[in-house]
Amino acid sequence: MGGRDIKGIKSKRIKIYPMDSPVEGIYFPGGDKSISHRGIFLSSLTTGKTILENYSKCLDVSSTISVFEKLGVKFKREGNLLLIESNGISSFTLKRDSLFCGNSGTTARLLMGALSPSHVKDIFITGDDSLSKRPMERVIKPLKMMGASIEGSEGTLPVKLTGSKINGIQYEMEVPSAQVKSAILLASLFASSKSVIREKFLTREHTENLLLNMGVNIKKKNLEIEIFPVKENLRSFKYLKIPGDISSASYFIALSLLKKGSHLTVKNITLDRGRIGFLKVLKRMGAKILIEVVEAFPCPVGDVSVWYSNLKGTKVFSHEIPQMIDEIPILSLLMAKSEGRSVIMGLSELKYKESDRLRAIYEILRKLGVKVKINRDSLEIVGPSDFEGIYLKSFDHRILMMGGIVGAISKNGGIIEDANFVDISYPNFFKDLASFKVVKLEV
Ligand code: S3P
Repeated sequence: MGGRDIKGIKSKRIKIYPMDSPVEGIYFPGGDKSISHRGIFLSSLTTGKTILENYSKCLDVSSTISVFEKLGVKFKREGNLLLIESNGISSFTLKRDSLFCGNSGTTARLLMGALSPSHVKDIFITGDDSLSKRPMERVIKPLKMMGASIEGSEGTLPVKLTGSKINGIQYEMEVPSAQVKSAILLASLFASSKSVIREKFLTREHTENLLLNMGVNIKKKNLEIEIFPVKENLRSFKYLKIPGDISSASYFIALSLLKKGSHLTVKNITLDRGRIGFLKVLKRMGAKILIEVVEAFPCPVGDVSVWYSNLKGTKVFSHEIPQMIDEIPILSLLMAKSEGRSVIMGLSELKYKESDRLRAIYEILRKLGVKVKINRDSLEIVGPSDFEGIYLKSFDHRILMMGGIVGAISKNGGIIEDANFVDISYPNFFKDLASFKVVKLEV
């Protein structure tokens, strides 16, 4: 099984008792994982000191920190603050060594982009069992077109990378992936000429928004990004306050929609237009949701209030998927509890996540007795269904969290094995679930 060699994760079984009271109150999810990764990457590439407030304490972000520590960047953790001190990309001179990215696709893919124009030599980029199976050709291909020296067997990790002269690129994205887009953007910063990236579908825009905030010459037009290389040094943003993670919040938004009498206010979360696809689809399903944008720069941030709602089925189109790619497991659960037929189209990318999530979702729902079908890369779900209980074993954090919510709303609760794998993105998931008085943890 993949993922088992991650430090700090030991198998843990959690018993979940059925939820007997509504979800109520105010909830602050932990710092956004995607923005935390990018905050660390961009601070490490600049010369000087940066402070990240409310950075994500998840294992994936720890992988990014440890990779840059090895490259010579200094980190100090002080409560909610991460203090970063770097001498910039020119100081990355590691030779014949390896950089372990754990379970984190974002770390591995962005790293290839960031290191391509550096002075590192014969560096192996590696990952755990799960990450070593995930496709890397999508990022190696455009980077090689820019002049990068990356060798890998069959388009998976490990790859061997040596820094080289990087040229600008005109690139039409072949897969909708913010990780690939970000890798190209990071390499473009230190290229010899400008780059232009065109997306078919909108993906999360955190990298380009942060780069704009740092004064990089970037022009965004619909789905096209033009980026000019930095002339001298990349200027640090000095201080970045990271909003809460909407993907982490999605589980408690779902629980509130499903439990009668609930009313939850989620405070201070990422509301980037590339991240709110889940909320938009929920509104179509009849969810009572109020979205208030409080800050707009460098990334839109705000509060989301959600009330228990009677949901109905809907159709989700391929172009909407990248804006809610990590929320598909929990969305399919909501669809199984909704009145009528739902279809989610264009799910091929789900097969390349930490596990084959399309298959995992199908199997969980089928075992729960839900009417569910996979047609090529679409999922068809007919609801509503009531659940007796769940027994789940998985090493995929988002599948485990979906299972946790199933347990909370099932007649007999549930048992979740290897529950510690939620540490990959949301270490406090079960603690937060317990704070809404729905689970009892069995150690
Ligand atoms: C991420 C992008 C998404 C997402 C992942 C985080 C990012 O992956 O699934 O959890 O931070 O850029 P893809 O861009 O590969 O779809």
